[in-house]
Amino acid sequence: MTDKIASKPSMDELIRPHLLDVKTYEPIDPPELLAKRAGIPEDRVIKLNGNENPFGSSPKALEAVAKAPLHVYPDPLQRNMRAALSAYTGLGDEYLIAGAGSDELIDLLFRLFISPGDAVIDSDPTFGMYGFCARVAGADTLLVPRRADFDIDVEAIAQAAARPGAKIIFVSSPNNPTGNAVSEDQVRALLDTGLVVVVDEAYFEFSRLTVAGLVPEYENLVALRTMSKWAGLAGLRVGYGMMSPRLVNHVIDIKQPYNVNIAAEGALIASLEDSDALLRRVQAIVDERERMFRLLDSIPGVTPWPSYGNFILCSFEPGMAASVYDGLAARGIFVRRFSAPRLADSFRITVGAPHETDAVIAAMRELVAVHS
Ligand SMILES: Cc1ncc(COP(=O)(O)O)c(C=O)c1O
Repeated sequence: MTDKIASKPSMDELIRPHLLDVKTYEPIDPPELLAKRAGIPEDRVIKLNGNENPFGSSPKALEAVAKAPLHVYPDPLQRNMRAALSAYTGLGDEYLIAGAGSDELIDLLFRLFISPGDAVIDSDPTFGMYGFCARVAGADTLLVPRRADFDIDVEAIAQAAARPGAKIIFVSSPNNPTGNAVSEDQVRALLDTGLVVVVDEAYFEFSRLTVAGLVPEYENLVALRTMSKWAGLAGLRVGYGMMSPRLVNHVIDIKQPYNVNIAAEGALIASLEDSDALLRRVQAIVDERERMFRLLDSIPGVTPWPSYGNFILCSFEPGMAASVYDGLAARGIFVRRFSAPRLADSFRITVGAPHETDAVIAAMRELVAVHS
């Protein structure tokens, strides 16, 4: 008996070895915690760290959520959502699949293509979810540095793609957090490697740049989008992918059957029906982005990077970014810093409402002046 107990495995032996000390995703904290940290009421927090939508959700989406029949499971084949997405994207429903945020679709692509020891290609710096999912999947990430202007290095990616075990190339376009986009020619060159090319168009509505038109042409192309940013549904978790019908069917086969909940389904459909109004809000955010860019550009020591998204990356003179970030946080203004070494002197600011831009700019002017 004692022998048996002695031979019981420890928890560490049961957990998969590559997950024992996995480096997790660096998430953003919720507003109530930010408020507590700054010692201010929650309604005074200026939250510009999550690329969320300052206008909130469509009233029609809110109505759909309120009316959603929560006691009923959603349709596993997502027929109504896919029909609505078809009308919005111009692609047939067979090319479309929805996920609980585009994050879930990224994870499903790992499940579909990646075995431990396989590799994915990432253009650094970029969105942290690809690397995080790779770590969880036990995959290697081949990090290809972006060029000085943050453009992707197509030749270096093609070289990495020739490495044994390489399966997926991830490209965020516009890239979070640098704001630049890739061209169709660059994407075609990546597709010619034969690997799966995932173009993450989370910020499509702010850029109007897309490779959706190439999806019927290339079986190895996956384009991802989200309702989190332009439609203000980040908290509900709903996004979608555009890919060959063959890949859609594989994703359907492996996804959780009820992956997108019924409230999110209703909100997605209502938001697409209200897309004209939502796109007017997007235009207001784009106009505000340009105003914020000019204001940032006028602060000595600050270099804003042109952006196609709803955010702007700012680079600072060496040593300045951390103290400006801390100074903003102490004033209840939260922006996003990153652990990537190349972004040590930078942070990203989400484009919010005009009064939020004014507040962040005024605070940055003061904080930068203290430094010089
Ligand atoms: C490039 C990129 N892709 C995907 C996502 C995640 O979107 P979702 O909220 O749909 O999971 C984000 C969110 O910040 C993003 O920046």
